Amino acid sequence: LRTPVLVTGGAGYIGSHAVLALRDAGWPVAVVDDLSTGFRAAVAKDVPFYEGDIADGELLARIFVEQEIGAIMHFAGSIVVPESVADPLRYYGNNTAKSRALIAAAVAHGIGHFIFSSTAAVYGAPDHSPVDEETPAAPINPYGRSKLMTEQMLADTAAAHEINYGVLRYFNVAGADPQGRAGQSTAGATHLIKVACEAATGRRDGVAIFGTDYETPDGTGVRDYIHVSDLVAAHVLLLERLIAEPEASLTMNCGYGRGFSVSEVLDAVERVAGTEIARRTEARRAGDPGELVSDPSRIRSTLPWEPRNDDLDTIVRHALEWERMRTD
Ligand code: UFG
Repeated sequence: LRTPVLVTGGAGYIGSHAVLALRDAGWPVAVVDDLSTGFRAAVAKDVPFYEGDIADGELLARIFVEQEIGAIMHFAGSIVVPESVADPLRYYGNNTAKSRALIAAAVAHGIGHFIFSSTAAVYGAPDHSPVDEETPAAPINPYGRSKLMTEQMLADTAAAHEINYGVLRYFNVAGADPQGRAGQSTAGATHLIKVACEAATGRRDGVAIFGTDYETPDGTGVRDYIHVSDLVAAHVLLLERLIAEPEASLTMNCGYGRGFSVSEVLDAVERVAGTEIARRTEARRAGDPGELVSDPSRIRSTLPWEPRNDDLDTIVRHALEWERMRTD
């Protein structure tokens, strides 16, 4: 039974891909987005779209009733680690307080299932790699803490009320819809693959490498880059699971389980784009761990998830294709 799904942040990068994945799989979808970083054009015209705040209880009540919502996928939030260090209250506001309001509205209206975009940043700077979900959460920046608090609210809420939840702790999401229907349009993006693709297409002057003195093989930061389409596919499978087993909630890493350094990523972008990228070295960024790679055992044994794009060059190629199509 495919219940209508409310996608928060559906006009943003990952949310817009989730809308595509849900529709491709036959789920009715509605979107709420305040367009603070998302774009109205990222959502197809025939998807019910509500411009507004996820903490606006009256708006949510209206959406739940009008669209007969039975599940929520919550993507709306702020996502830049250094920004969270500079402006922590914005992160506790957007990611924690507003999530609380959304969860409260979900409970009040009997919404049965809630999927939350969490982050590998909840692990902080772990002393081992890869990290599994038993690794104690110990975020080292306000971004990670703001997301961890929402995980904790969900766990407590599911214990007390008729709602189950799925938390996916994303590693480094990149790439774009392989069919070119969506991609990352974020203004002033800071994520490495996006930034490198902008540099490769002449939209910015080169790339700064933040830190070359990490305890990693080449000294630059190592991350587990995951293709956005594989990530959103996991959400759809997770939703099916939450509906099939309403007593069970799940918290899982979402990554491929292998890491690439900043230098390796830049090499890949140069290789795929066929152009050189000017590199400069800068100091480490505030709040950045050296290496963050997932142990994906739990998601692989829990969901019938078969990643289709587990290949750095493929991720980069799709990101570049999107970058080249942009007209803004
Ligand atoms: N980096 C650069 N230059 C840049 C941008 C990034 O050297 O211009 C480096 C960073 O120092 C880091 C790596 O590239 O080593 C990746 O940085 P991103 O900014 O692309 O991503 P983050 O790892 O900081 O954060 C992202 C998400 C988080 C998530 C985290 C998990 O925003 O939600 O990945 O690793 F938790």
